[in-house]
Amino acid sequence: MCGIVGYTGINQVLPKLLKGLEKLEYRGYDSAGVYVNNGVNEDFLVREQGRVSMLELATKNKGISGTAGIAHTRWATHGGVSVKNAHPHMSSDGRFYLVHNGVIENYDVLRDTYLKDIKLNSETDTEIAVQLIDKFAKEEELSAVDAFRKMISLLDENSAYGFLLMDRQTPGLLYTAKKKSPLLIGVAEEGNVVTSDAAAMLDVTNDFIELMDGETAIISKDKVSLFDEHGVEIVREPFTINIDASETDKGVYPYYMLKEVDEQAVVARTLSQHYFDEEGHIKNIDSQITEAIKKADRIYIVAAGTSYHAGLVGKRYFEQWTGIPTEVHIASEFAYDQPLLSNKPFFIFLSQSGETADSREVLDNIVKQGYPSLTIANVMNSTLTREADFALPILAGPEIAVASTKAYTAQVIVEAILAYAVGDADIDLKHELARVAVEMQVIIDQKEVFNDIAKTALHNRHSAFYIGRGLDAAVAVEAALKLKEISYVQTEGFAAGELKHGTISLIEEGTPVFALLTQEKTAGLVRGEIAQVAARGAKTIVLASESIAKENDDYILPNVNELLMPLLAVIPAQLIAYYATLDRGLDVDRPRNLAKSVTVQ
Ligand code: F6R
Repeated sequence: MCGIVGYTGINQVLPKLLKGLEKLEYRGYDSAGVYVNNGVNEDFLVREQGRVSMLELATKNKGISGTAGIAHTRWATHGGVSVKNAHPHMSSDGRFYLVHNGVIENYDVLRDTYLKDIKLNSETDTEIAVQLIDKFAKEEELSAVDAFRKMISLLDENSAYGFLLMDRQTPGLLYTAKKKSPLLIGVAEEGNVVTSDAAAMLDVTNDFIELMDGETAIISKDKVSLFDEHGVEIVREPFTINIDASETDKGVYPYYMLKEVDEQAVVARTLSQHYFDEEGHIKNIDSQITEAIKKADRIYIVAAGTSYHAGLVGKRYFEQWTGIPTEVHIASEFAYDQPLLSNKPFFIFLSQSGETADSREVLDNIVKQGYPSLTIANVMNSTLTREADFALPILAGPEIAVASTKAYTAQVIVEAILAYAVGDADIDLKHELARVAVEMQVIIDQKEVFNDIAKTALHNRHSAFYIGRGLDAAVAVEAALKLKEISYVQTEGFAAGELKHGTISLIEEGTPVFALLTQEKTAGLVRGEIAQVAARGAKTIVLASESIAKENDDYILPNVNELLMPLLAVIPAQLIAYYATLDRGLDVDRPRNLAKSVTVQ
């Protein structure tokens, strides 16, 4: 978590850093800070608790000027949310300034071994790192980069870091290093940048050099020097990221989430164009991938949160279309409680960001065990895509709102396409997906219906349920996550048949129960379950597909192939969550305590 950005060049740095931080705010937003050095013995450190907008206010009228600086937006790990714990952290004598993304696991041992005499100003692991750099520079007369490397050499193997350092004595230089936390170096005519996410610096450049684990770099306004883990200089060419800076703007939308919900039909079409040729044959999936899956006797889908929920839907495609048994696992559980595996497992990692630490831990483990793997992700060139044997993009475009929407539907679509490519489904998937895209747009265009539903069913309510069977049960858990994570209405997604085995006791007068009804085989049973909760006072809201719907149902979903109905059924849930959150006056894009990219375990 946490966002890092730095710049050294010929232009004023502060506006660039603040703009970059705004773009990175999705990674964490409990505090933010900036350090700017003007190169002629004047420097500025400003840190604020709260959003980047608070930091922006705090930097006004301070006469901050300079062409090199670093900045950070924080998601607290070690130490509470406060100004003193906000980054950049400064060494005691004010020489070094450091921002950090990650966790230093042995920070307390380092503190007790090396820093007994130093008065610490924060509760963070990051301050330990900057004080160590200062100590080694001073006591051992090391250069900034050597002191930086010495500090890094003391971190234990479980530590993760993306560091960005400035030294008052070398004001135009940025020092950076990474392990397990993403960092990119951007190169441009006007100067060079360091960032934890390219999206933050697209206004400066589209050309980035990837920093690999264990490497360090020294960056000036016109030079990037890269070093391997032994300090030997290496050369790496930049690659170009083909994202337009405007794609990461909200445009006319009040919130990113609404923009991203709206984009789903376009993403579905983009995926069709990318993965199907004119005749409906698969393209852009290497036969090595399909062959590797065909050799497997079991598929293991591993993911977290919404991506895990996308896996629950994808399981059906793999089992039905490839005939290969498929298990879906929560990454944080699998990582430390690996189940008994089949003889020839194939692993599929699903991730929007490609950086989720829980999933990375599993990938690390299974790579060591020699099992084949594929990552399906939105951010290509991310750790999970690089470290798996294969990678496929979901092409959803930047997803900025913390609540994942278009990445979910895009993951489900890519799972369907992959299963179709491996197996022999008896449908014309290209054609079916084209219908899905059309119907997605129909639902999206009826936003006001969901605004009304949210207001009538959820206003002043503290708890709610989503229920369904089969694929609807898989969508119900995602629907519930969407609602609870942004509106704070405690919501459970439930297999409808399971309610009567205990949870039905929570139903009281007015409890909203959203029922998803898109699966013919179980529709009658779910109708029964709706009646059972209604008889106990629940306010039921029935979202049913056209062929199953009855007269008084609350919303009729257009019909597409039943297996693809999750792609439609989830959209009302996303919009109901959005409007319920607006109704409560909350920040839709940035729910409390959360961050977009969960890079700590
Ligand atoms: C919820 C949400 C999270 C993520 C989860 C995994 O809306 O976005 O549950 O799905 O943190 O993240 P990725 O997909 O980046 O691995």
